[in-house]
Amino acid sequence: MKKTIAVLPGDGVGPEIIDATLAVLQSIEEKYNHQFTYNKGLIGGVAIDAVGDPFPKQTETVCLTSDAILFGAIGDPKYDNDPTAKVRPEQGLLAMRQKLGLYANVRPIQTFKSLLHKSPLKEDRVTGADFVVIRELIGGIYFGKRGRGADGRSAFDTSTYTVEEISRVSNYAFKLAQKRRRKLTLVDKANVLETSRLWRETVQKIAQDFPDVSVEYMFVDNASMQIIRNPTAFDVILTENMFGDILSDEASVITGSIGLLPSASIGEKTSLYEPIHGSYPKAAGTNSANPIGTILSAAMMLEYSFDMKEEAGAIRMAVNSLLDEGKGTKDIVSENPLTTSDVGEEIARKLDPVSSTG
Ligand code: IPM
Ligand code: MG
Repeated sequence: MKKTIAVLPGDGVGPEIIDATLAVLQSIEEKYNHQFTYNKGLIGGVAIDAVGDPFPKQTETVCLTSDAILFGAIGDPKYDNDPTAKVRPEQGLLAMRQKLGLYANVRPIQTFKSLLHKSPLKEDRVTGADFVVIRELIGGIYFGKRGRGADGRSAFDTSTYTVEEISRVSNYAFKLAQKRRRKLTLVDKANVLETSRLWRETVQKIAQDFPDVSVEYMFVDNASMQIIRNPTAFDVILTENMFGDILSDEASVITGSIGLLPSASIGEKTSLYEPIHGSYPKAAGTNSANPIGTILSAAMMLEYSFDMKEEAGAIRMAVNSLLDEGKGTKDIVSENPLTTSDVGEEIARKLDPVSSTG
């Protein structure tokens, strides 16, 4: 199969984790006889430095003319400590989500047997945890009207949702639940917020079209507690933009290894795949960051965007095999850790049984 992939390395460790992932994709091309064309684009701090815009038009075009997007990370500390900075790398991320219409952020939370001891939670609580957070990504308070009062001494951010916005992401979540354990939890704050009441009303209606999916409703404060107390109770968690931002970070802690977790942002025209961790600026250029979150994001890309299930499964197996051997970068292995590029090469080699035995 021939596919075009937009590759946006971004800031910090982004270029290194992307290079390691491209080594894995190259091995997939050879083994399964595919042909991937990579179109690079600038985003984030590096794009501000080069052209003064964190999501340049040229990058948007590269994204829209490719079959899928592989993204590294965004963020540079030089902007974090300057509240007066007019353009920030993160604006590139929000602009990209909005312009590409990436409405559903999908974050699978899975544990890795060999790394269960890394979780800050008790092993018996997290064993078997396997759920997906579906976060609405282009509505709500992130994109509502905001501003300051005339005297500058008051400020406001507003959250708006339409039935269409809620339905689009909810349908996606219900369909995903049908392919999994058929349980969906809508997380909201319907005891206080009007937007949450609209979410609940809309999801209740959509639920009638999916009689095989059992639906539960949970307030976000309670959900934040239950995710930690009893993570195995969840299958698909559906929620709005800001609650999803917070809950998905919380959920990522369960596995104890944020460097391993992938994500997808699904749109109607195209979809984007990225690790859930940030740009890790302290490690930039040291060839030490964990590329597995990005490699597993590429596996999601193969499965979701290209329908290459076998290829995606092969990457996941190769990752598990590496972890079972006790190998990995320094965030997960203390003695003789591998470098970023080593991990990419080892996984690439494992995909090809001929060269791994040779
Ligand atoms: C995320 C990040 C972003 C968000 C930031 C960097 C704007 O936290 O992808 O979860 O809040 O959506
Ligand atoms: Mg976040």
